[in-house]
Amino acid sequence: MACENKMKSVKVVAELPNLKAVPSNYSVDHHHNSSPAIDSIDDSLPVVDFSLLSSEDPHQHSKAIQDLGRACEQWGFFMVVNHGIAESLMKELIGVANEFFLMPEEDKWRYKGQQVFDPIKYGTSFNYTSKETTFYWRDYLKLSVHPDFHSPHQPKNFRELIWEYCEKCRKVTKMLLSGISESLGLEEELMRKSLDLDSGFEVFVANYYPACPQPELVMGLPPHSDFGLLTLLIQNEVGGLQIQQNGKWININPIPNSILVNTADHLEIFTNGKYKSVLHRAVVKKVPRISIGIANCPAMNATVRPAASPLIQNERLPPLYLPMKYSEYVEKQQTKPLDGKSSLDQIKIKLKQT
Ligand code: OGA
Ligand code: NI
Repeated sequence: MACENKMKSVKVVAELPNLKAVPSNYSVDHHHNSSPAIDSIDDSLPVVDFSLLSSEDPHQHSKAIQDLGRACEQWGFFMVVNHGIAESLMKELIGVANEFFLMPEEDKWRYKGQQVFDPIKYGTSFNYTSKETTFYWRDYLKLSVHPDFHSPHQPKNFRELIWEYCEKCRKVTKMLLSGISESLGLEEELMRKSLDLDSGFEVFVANYYPACPQPELVMGLPPHSDFGLLTLLIQNEVGGLQIQQNGKWININPIPNSILVNTADHLEIFTNGKYKSVLHRAVVKKVPRISIGIANCPAMNATVRPAASPLIQNERLPPLYLPMKYSEYVEKQQTKPLDGKSSLDQIKIKLKQT
């Protein structure tokens, strides 16, 4: 095979003839993650009706903004319905992403990324230089899609579908972020200008979690929060996402055709901790699962810091995070093993107890 790398797709591992047990280097029970089967409960997320955010009726509009703000503050995860993106587009995109992962190994490894900011990166587990001894049951394709658009040219139509889906999602994100600004009482253009959102960085991620004979022993993605402002996620019909709330893992079963949205680290920094990023992880199943996420981020060169009043108010509410250039943050977070919210913790300002 022409893949001159040590990494092996989990898909190849999962399809080994007579695989009855997962290889020990994929087994998570020897590190700090609790087993995915233990302690997880079902609950339903808040629903945000996207069409009401742009309602001309001031009462409906302000209720929609309040609901959005509450979903960000209390959950950090919500389902967006009536977003106007056709179900057929989402289904087709997931179908062609699936075809990508079914391509011959050497065709996929041609896109292997070497550096964090390589615009096209195929890989497995979490990152390309993972120093971890435990591997995650996940193959991925990560693409930089904004301000410059990158995508593989195969399979057929993949590029066009990614382009179209990203364009549509960008409009949804823009409206959500402007609703979020409004819910915080911020000046209208403050977020767009201070984070240079017109040149905002966007990453498209397709995750492939192959069928696993012993799902309770492995993890698709370990507990983490996302970089960026908002992540939009869709999946095939198979569930697997869990989020942490009050120390418990909750299984997320989204309404069909909705888009799952979560608040991410840079929104936590920008809102001075009012809208926190949320720990989540992906467990795997006996059938293959695909998810597609878009991370919407500040511009590469933007320095992210807590926004002005009313999120900062002199001594009563000082800035709680150090300013940091967006690209530096991502580089740090992506080149070490994923470890909960440790990257964010490093820029938290520890207040003196009085
Ligand atoms: C991610 C992620 C969850 C999922 O890609 O950051 O959290 O359900 N994915 O695939
Ligand atoms: Ni995530």
